[in-house]
Amino acid sequence: MKVIAIAGKGGTGKTTISALIVSALKEGGATPILAVDADPNYNLGDALGVEVTETLGATLESFIDQKGKIPAGMTKAAFLEMRMHQSVIEGKKVDLLVMGRPEGPGCYCFANNLLRKALEELAENYKIVLIDNEAGMEHLSRKTTAKLDILLLVSDHTIKGIRTAGRLKDLAIEMNIDIKEMGLVVNMVEGELDPRAMEEIENLGLSLYGVMPRDTAVSELYLDDESLLSLKADSPIKLAVNALIEKTGYLNKL
Ligand SMILES: Nc1ncnc2c1ncn2[C@@H]1O[C@H](COP(=O)(O)OP(=O)(O)O)[C@@H](O)[C@H]1O
Ligand SMILES: [Mg+2]
Repeated sequence: MKVIAIAGKGGTGKTTISALIVSALKEGGATPILAVDADPNYNLGDALGVEVTETLGATLESFIDQKGKIPAGMTKAAFLEMRMHQSVIEGKKVDLLVMGRPEGPGCYCFANNLLRKALEELAENYKIVLIDNEAGMEHLSRKTTAKLDILLLVSDHTIKGIRTAGRLKDLAIEMNIDIKEMGLVVNMVEGELDPRAMEEIENLGLSLYGVMPRDTAVSELYLDDESLLSLKADSPIKLAVNALIEKTGYLNKL
């Protein structure tokens, strides 16, 4: 099993790249896949063409509300695990778990601790777990996620954007998150990546894993409220995502 997490500033293309990675891995046969949408403002389902009928946040709320109503003979942990399984939206080869808003006004620490364990167990059923994070590192810092095989930091091609990615890298190191590799993906690039951007990447000690072109087909699909699954196999961004997957070597290792 490989756990891939995607992080970066809002609007840099995390969800777009997450959906395209999921579809490339699916096409490459690395299934089953669990796609986790960890952004409270979730939209990975839209990008993947999956209707979101459940969120884990809603499940947690009802778990808290049902205090004392746990079926006789069932532990709280077992009950929560059962409810979490019910929150997984099952698809063909790709399942989706939408976190929603796990933190309400009250403290869900107890539930969160159980959740971490339940999530780790759930992940064991899949070849790939991909986590599309919210901007920032909240979920990662709360450690609701297991160990990561790879953290992909997504940035636009601006110097500012790349610096933000650099700060996220430092933060991940500071927080002592268990990550095997970290790579930078620069998105919405027109033509070649500018040498000034390259220089900044090197100065910050970031490892460049992928350069994604700005692809009008992507914006067209979003405008038509269509999923990204209908992108042509030879569209520039799909080819770039394939190259990224190639670089990770995950298809060969599974
Ligand atoms: N490579 C790309 N080419 C063209 N448009 C893109 C590309 N990547 C992302 N976009 C557009 O940028 C917007 C933000 O992308 P999104 O994936 O939702 O970012 P994030 O999840 O980081 O907030 C979307 O409207 C999408 O259409
Ligand atoms: Mg997003």
